[in-house]
Amino acid sequence: MSTNITFHAGSVDNTERVELLSQKGVTVWLTGLSASGKSTIACALEQHLLHMHKFTYRLDGDNVRFGLNKDLGFDEKSRNENIRRIGEVSKLFTDSSCITLTAFISPYKADRAIAREIHEKAGLGFVEVFVDAPIEVVEQRDPKGLYKKARAGEIKEFTGVSAPYEAPESPEIHIRTDKSDVTESVRIITEYLTQNKYI
Ligand code: ADX
Repeated sequence: MSTNITFHAGSVDNTERVELLSQKGVTVWLTGLSASGKSTIACALEQHLLHMHKFTYRLDGDNVRFGLNKDLGFDEKSRNENIRRIGEVSKLFTDSSCITLTAFISPYKADRAIAREIHEKAGLGFVEVFVDAPIEVVEQRDPKGLYKKARAGEIKEFTGVSAPYEAPESPEIHIRTDKSDVTESVRIITEYLTQNKYI
């Protein structure tokens, strides 16, 4: 039988969790056009933070749009709902003390504002990162050939071609991926997290 077991009655609050785990959660919300580099940066950042022994997790199209949000498409309403759910899930991850990295186009300002608001209301950190590259550059990269299909009219409502992207006006971090490489991007975000005492 174990002895000296201590517990508090009732649910654990965030302050207690942060103290006991010695880690504060924060949501790092990457937004930008398709092929701007969001997932690439999020993957590299996740690796970097893990090597610093930080509890971190990445949410992106690969693990969200094929699971939780597999019922959603790309019309405006579906994108609103996609981001609403991701905002709620990232809030829960962040409340668990996780450094939560989200990599979604999240094209609408109002949707990103709601995600920020639910974090701030819960006293949780939210860092918006604008992963920015001009449309000509991302269209040139076109790793999945989707811009080509969108120009040919084979994909409807494609962000940057036939659907809007509302750029953030005052993101905490603005990265130009046509000017900085992945290593530099990871360094910029890590420096921000350090300076703001998240890590
Ligand atoms: S969001 O607009 O709802 O935030 P999300 O980031 O989840 O989009 O998914 C974007 C990815 O889905 C793109 O990188 C691309 O691979 C794929 N995709 C498929 N159809 C579209 C479309 N109409 N517009 C943008 N991306 C699309």
